[in-house]
Amino acid sequence: MTDRLAELTRLFPDLKLSTDPGDMEHHGRDWTRRWPPSPLAIAWPASIDEVQGIVRWANQQGVAVVPSGGRTGLSGGAVAANGELVLSLDRMNRVLDFDPIDRTLTVQAGMALEAVQNAAREHGLIYPVDFAARGSCQIGGNVATNAGGIRVIRYGNTRQWIAGLKVVTGTGELLDLNRGLIKNASGYDLRHLVIGSEGTLGIVVEATLALTAPPPPSQVMLLAIPAMDALMKVFAEARHRLRLEAFEFFTDRALHHVLAHGAQRPFDDAYPFYVVSEFDAADAEAEAAGLAFFEFCLAEGWVVDGAIASSDAQAAALWRLREGITESLAPHKPYKNDVSVRISAVPAFMAEMQALLTREYPDFDVVWFGHIGDGNLHINVLKPTDIDNASFVEQCEHVTSMLVDTLARHGGSISAEHGIGLVKKPWLGSVRSEAEIALMRGIKAVWDPNGIMNPGKLL
Ligand code: FAD
Ligand code: MLT
Ligand code: ZN
Repeated sequence: MTDRLAELTRLFPDLKLSTDPGDMEHHGRDWTRRWPPSPLAIAWPASIDEVQGIVRWANQQGVAVVPSGGRTGLSGGAVAANGELVLSLDRMNRVLDFDPIDRTLTVQAGMALEAVQNAAREHGLIYPVDFAARGSCQIGGNVATNAGGIRVIRYGNTRQWIAGLKVVTGTGELLDLNRGLIKNASGYDLRHLVIGSEGTLGIVVEATLALTAPPPPSQVMLLAIPAMDALMKVFAEARHRLRLEAFEFFTDRALHHVLAHGAQRPFDDAYPFYVVSEFDAADAEAEAAGLAFFEFCLAEGWVVDGAIASSDAQAAALWRLREGITESLAPHKPYKNDVSVRISAVPAFMAEMQALLTREYPDFDVVWFGHIGDGNLHINVLKPTDIDNASFVEQCEHVTSMLVDTLARHGGSISAEHGIGLVKKPWLGSVRSEAEIALMRGIKAVWDPNGIMNPGKLL
């Protein structure tokens, strides 16, 4: 153990600390597998006091700190590859308070999203942020990335559900931001600065989450769609006729991989695009509206096949086709892109980008899927087996440059919901002006004057 760690142990004899190679490997990276982990050590504080103490020690010792949640991040934000101390929130995972009048749940930041969803349900309410990593990702990580997911079309991103935050800044100061207030016109809302800051300003230690009433029973529908312009018409029609909870898409290449990973084939034939949609269907009238929508789209030729779930098991099987994509692609070491354009710009953007990819990289397996109802597309390039890692990354960075140009023509963003982290850092300047980046740097310098909070990420 180094002198610096010995000093930390002297200051906090009860602090759980490890330099075990297995822990360093496990906690030194997120879902990106590009950077070999090389942390100084892993610390698991159990209280706000310990978090503050670690941050103060890190300032004195000049040690960088990487806040670590569930490490399901896809942008390299929780990677510790340069001798940083990983500060894991794993042990701070309790519900602290439920208030039925305010409809808020106050939790420690290391609580898993799914545990929060379950805790809300125990009180007859829901916490509506939701996505496939729910079992592992943590509220602190969700706040730090302003996570989106599959129900944004109805409920918005994480930001919308954060009524209050406790945050330890880069100097070790504890801020109690907004305290659950609905109205609070008292100057800059620092809570919203922390949301999406990717661990570069401070450590989220507690969150007060707004909850809401559960939606009525819903129906899940899978649609096979012949072309992107038809998909947009289906989307417009669905929004017009139904109360949507989700509208997600994937291509036949995505279906190929998810089927190879054990999902059930939905249709005998293959189609270019598929949509999983979930919408309110509380009674027979609402169910009939769903069926009428489907038949209308079929008659128009916008939909060529479909399936409506008639049980929870069938609904789960349809959702697996969409939610299982990330895991099914993981063995192929995908280079991930997570972009957004205005919904209306999706068809033109996709057509242009796919044409470029086909021209420049005809042998790449490119898998498109995502939250198309939010204009958020995931473009995963799979690593061909005959290319080494370094050349693959080089070619994918060229793909990202093409994406950046195409996004610029369509007014889009290089990161919709995964964050900038390390993966997209070289392209931050394509979506944020020099003036904006200078302001961001200035803000970071105030919150974290010694630059110890997740250095090298985002900025
Ligand atoms: P980590 O990966 O541990 O960290 C992410 C970032 O947050 C890092 O910069 C880290 O330093 C920082 N951080 C973590 N905890 C704290 C804290 N307490 N205080 C300050 N900073 C902190 N994302 C979506 O938005 N939508 C999706 O639909 C979605 N689906 C996914 C599906 C799968 C299968 C997987 C693997 C990932 C998915 N993700 C999705 C990405 C990821 O789950 C989210 O970004 C999630 O919010 C990360 O949470 P985490 O706890 O795992 O954070
Ligand atoms: C998703 O929507 O499934 C996630 O953002 C994960 C991914 O992009 O792989
Ligand atoms: Zn996503």
